[in-house]
Amino acid sequence: MTIGVLGAGYVGLATAASFAARGFAVVCADIDEKKIAKLQIGELPFFEEGMVEVFAASSIPVVFTTDLAKACTCDIVFCCVGTPSAADGSADLFFVRSAAKACADVALNAIFVLKSTVPPGTSLSISKFVEGKLRVAANPEFLREGHVIQDALNPSRIVIGADDESVLSVLLDLYSETEAPIVSTNTVTAEMIKYASNSFLATKISFINDIANLCDVIGADVRSVATGMGLDDRIGAKFLQPGPGYGGSCFPKDVRALIHLGRSVNVPLRILEATTAINADRQLLPYRQLVESLRNLKGKRIAVWGLAFKPGTGDIRDAPALELLRRCIADHADLVAFDPRVRSLPAECGEVKIAAAAIDALHNADALVIMTDWSEFAEFDRAEILKSMRGNCIIDPRYVLRG
Ligand code: UDX
Repeated sequence: MTIGVLGAGYVGLATAASFAARGFAVVCADIDEKKIAKLQIGELPFFEEGMVEVFAASSIPVVFTTDLAKACTCDIVFCCVGTPSAADGSADLFFVRSAAKACADVALNAIFVLKSTVPPGTSLSISKFVEGKLRVAANPEFLREGHVIQDALNPSRIVIGADDESVLSVLLDLYSETEAPIVSTNTVTAEMIKYASNSFLATKISFINDIANLCDVIGADVRSVATGMGLDDRIGAKFLQPGPGYGGSCFPKDVRALIHLGRSVNVPLRILEATTAINADRQLLPYRQLVESLRNLKGKRIAVWGLAFKPGTGDIRDAPALELLRRCIADHADLVAFDPRVRSLPAECGEVKIAAAAIDALHNADALVIMTDWSEFAEFDRAEILKSMRGNCIIDPRYVLRG
């Protein structure tokens, strides 16, 4: 059986790598020539631990191409293209529709599996869009950046959504050797499982952040509260770490899209509305604390440790650090940032200097803000940091430093 993958982002490459590791012949296509040229010489377009090694070790080398038709004529075609947020918060399905059209044009009746995160109902609408020329199924992924390979090779569960028995049996067969539990259902339910999962995790984070706001005022230690809560296995310790809000390419956009879907059918999702509002507020917290401490930021040197939305990745999409930088730039602060994986910033942050090492960023700094919980930052102690700075303001919304 041959596997086609449309889209060479995190999801597409993880899908290609996991099937290649299991001995399938895989063709991965993307319209981005630069990305494909890199992949053809064994390089990734982004940093992801362990992925290069999986591609290098596959018994049948993955074919990377800009010719979509080559991927579309495989036995099963996985659609892994992006679904960015539209201005109204809904998921923009332009790339998904283009991929489906490209497939329908060359491979009548192909099995077209949506791995891209799409709003519930998308498989059915894509099937209509291509006038029934494709057999559309949903098979969402649950990959965490930084652990993509681990999650792709050892998934917590496999969700298969199919509205047609013949497609379901092909997909069940495809995953017959995996040990993960399989949930097979219809497409709209499979799509909902993905959105509900991401939205629940985002809500857990906003819940602990809300509790953190209260703890700060009444003098309780939110980390001990999270530990005490997490020991109850009905609650669980994961995703109870307070911080400057969730970011990344998934949670913000998926929660927004589910809220939009709810509104569009007159079912307001009140908990998720609160989740996003709390998150937006928490993203402002480090800036508010800076202003409280330094008053006027104009000309003040601010060191920022961590730009990525979380450790283990160089991804800055929707990263809380960007919100902080934007605000400080507007206040004419003098910014120096360091992140182990991020070496450049978008044009709007062009004036931010990038230090070569964490310690270098501290030189003459009036304040330090730690925006990403990279483990190497935890190796510093406060006294050592303060010795290297001019001022004495340390803002640590992720509780990276001891003490
Ligand atoms: C997420 C989901 O975990 C994954 O299953 C889905 O497929 C894609 O979206 P990812 O975006 O890689 O994965 O990041 P994740 O590890 O979930 O973290 C998301 C954000 O939440 C980060 O900004 C992180 O710093 C923040 N976070 C996470 C917290 O603030 N506190 C926590 O306790 C956990």
